[in-house]
This record gives sequence, C-alpha cells and structure tokens, in this order.
Amino acid sequence: MNNKRWPLMGETITFSDRLKMAYFCLTANRFTYGEKVKEFETKWNDWLTEEKYGKHNSLYVSSGSTANFLLVAAVIEKYGLKPGDKVLLPACTWMTNVSPIIQLGLTPIFCDVNMQNYSFDLDEAKLIARKHKDIKLIFVTHLLGFPAENSKLKEIFPKALIIDDVCESHGCKDETGNRVGNLSLGATFSFYFGHHMSTIEGGMVTTDNIDLYDLMRMKRSHGLARESLVFKMYQDLSPEIDPQFIFQTDGYNFRNHEICAVLGISQLDRLSSMVDKRRSNYTKYVEIINNFPDLFHPHEYIEGNSSFCFPFICKSKELNLKMKDKFNEHGIEYRPVVAGNLLSQPFLKNYKMETKRKIPNAQIIHTQGVYIGNNHFVTHYDMEFLSEIIGEINV
Ligand SMILES: Cc1ncc(COP(=O)(O)O)c(C=O)c1O
Repeated sequence: MNNKRWPLMGETITFSDRLKMAYFCLTANRFTYGEKVKEFETKWNDWLTEEKYGKHNSLYVSSGSTANFLLVAAVIEKYGLKPGDKVLLPACTWMTNVSPIIQLGLTPIFCDVNMQNYSFDLDEAKLIARKHKDIKLIFVTHLLGFPAENSKLKEIFPKALIIDDVCESHGCKDETGNRVGNLSLGATFSFYFGHHMSTIEGGMVTTDNIDLYDLMRMKRSHGLARESLVFKMYQDLSPEIDPQFIFQTDGYNFRNHEICAVLGISQLDRLSSMVDKRRSNYTKYVEIINNFPDLFHPHEYIEGNSSFCFPFICKSKELNLKMKDKFNEHGIEYRPVVAGNLLSQPFLKNYKMETKRKIPNAQIIHTQGVYIGNNHFVTHYDMEFLSEIIGEINV
C-alpha cells in the first residue's frame, strides 16, 4: 500500500471495471485469447482513428515490451533487414524499446534527445544522417506524453522506415491533429499500471500495413499459419501438413487473454477523459516550471500532449537534491526521468552516443532530472500546493 500524499499513480481499476470482470469470470466458457480480445482490438482501432480518418489493425499482446519486440521482428522479416543493419534510437527511452533491436541482431545508433519533448535532438540527427547514410529503421519514442516530430525525421532520413513507441503517450497528437499511432507503419502502447489506462499487464501493437499485421498475427501465436488472413493460401502451399499446425514463420507466444481484454474495453471508455485531465494538469505545470527559471530548464507548452508525468530538469545537481528533499518532506513520490541516460546503464556500457556535444542532454536529464506523477487523480489544489513548495526552495 502506498501511503504517499502524492503517489506516482493510483489504482485506476474501478468498481465497475471489477464488476465487469467478475461477471465475465462467472459466465464465460473461454478465458484464453478469443472474442473479447478481438472486440478490444476493434475498439482500439476505432479509438485511435476516432478524430481523423485512418485504417488501422491492432493486436492485443501481453505487454508494451512484447508489442515492441513483435513489431521489430515483423519489420525485419517483411522489409528484409539484415543482421547488423542500423537503427536510430534515442538515448532516453525505456530499455525495452532498445532491447529488441539488440536482441534481434540490429545495430543501435544512439542519438541525443532535445530538452523540450525529450525525443531526438534534430541537430544531432542531421549530423548522424551525414555520418550514417544507411540507417534503415528509426524507432521513435513519444516520451512522457509528448509527440515527437516524425515529419521532420522523415525529411532528415527520407529512406528509413519509421515506427513509433507510444507506450506512455496514448492519445498524444501529431501536428495535423492525428492521434499518434494512427497512420503509422507500426506503433506500440502499454497498458501497465500507471499508464493512461490499464489492463493490469498488456500492450497493443498497431499498423496501417495489412501484410505487417498478418505477419504479426502469426508471430504473436507461435508462427502458426492458421492465424493468418490468408490461411487458405498457406494450406495450399503445404498440403502435406495438418492445416492447424503449419508453422509459417518463427514465432512467440505474446498473446493476452479475455479477462484483461474485458478490463481494457471497460477502461477504453474513459481513456479520452483521462487524457484530457492529464492535459489540463500539464497546462498548470508549464506555468509553474516557467515561473522558476532559476531552478529549472524552461519548458514550452507542447500542443498535442497527453502528459504522462511532470518532469523537472533542474539547473544543477544540488537543486535536484533539494527538490527531492522537498518531495520527501511532503510525501510526493518521485523517480528518475524514465531510465535517465540509457547509455549509463550497465546493459549498454559498450555502446556510445553518436553525438558531437560535450554535454549531451541525456546526461543532464540523467543527473538533474526527476519526475512526479500526473494522472486524473491530481487536482487543481495539488498543483497549487506544488507551486507553493517549489517557491520555498532558495537558489
Ligand atoms: C517508452 C516505453 N516503452 C516500452 C515500455 C514497456 O511497456 P510494458 O511495461 O507494458 O512492458 C514502457 C513502459 O513503461 C515505456 O515507457
């Protein structure tokens, strides 16, 4: 039990969610992946494309991490990427955005991030594009609920494929007002506790490419041809094998199950309102940050955000410690900004950032950054209180 006055996140599973799961448990005949999963996937497609036209295909999987892995594995197969092919990655993201690239034999090229939306620093990306003309894939992370600038990346790397990790940014919008993930070659979402909505564990991978979708359907379920939209074609190609057990591609078991899908369907009804509340809190947060220019790196309001948390990038390490002391004093739970500079983590100690800067932003975020929770439980009064306690910090 978390006794903090302001925890990173509260439990979002309501009594009504619980009733729906309980009813399902008492009445269902099938609990493994089935009709409820399909219903959740269809409803997710509708939600993603709700505000702008799009045509998307989604697969509900066991987590945001397995969504990332599945997407990268399918992109490699469909687009014929070879071992060692280069992939552009940000130095600040979650580890399981980077891991599949390495685990699946590709070469990560790490780019520094910018201090506004914490996605790629575009000046650095331009330098990298000159040095590495053969980057095949860009795995963008839309971090902390902020949409990254994919259209600018497309200009810098016109030949590269682009996929999106939206695991902590459900409902953020690109510059044309599209929900990020709609119109994407591939996008992933996490429904872990603390995210904009929860299915306890779970993730979604979506694509606008029907062949990629079909491949992911099979890979999600052991590589079985019977999952394919063109099952008949595969049967005809392997008439000597029992149709139910034709393994058409290498696969995994990344499926999720019916009870979590029931919860997902229930939570999805509230997702837009949860994003709206987070966005409204974020507006106040931007005001607070910019009231204290001596304490924090400035932050301009980012249109299209679906704010995940409130990051504070302090002007010095000492200020960072003072902030944490304040948070401790007032029962405000905090944590590093995602995983800090990933290249400082033991797992990636043999990799380096392809940057020319002496002081990369990722390192500043690593040593001077801290974030506290934003969610639909945070009230106007909490935000006033936050402003007050920050005002108590002497520079
Ligand atoms: C950017 C990013 N990618 C991937 C993940 C992994 O999601 P999951 O915890 O559902 O595996 C997370 C988790 O928070 C994340 O923040």
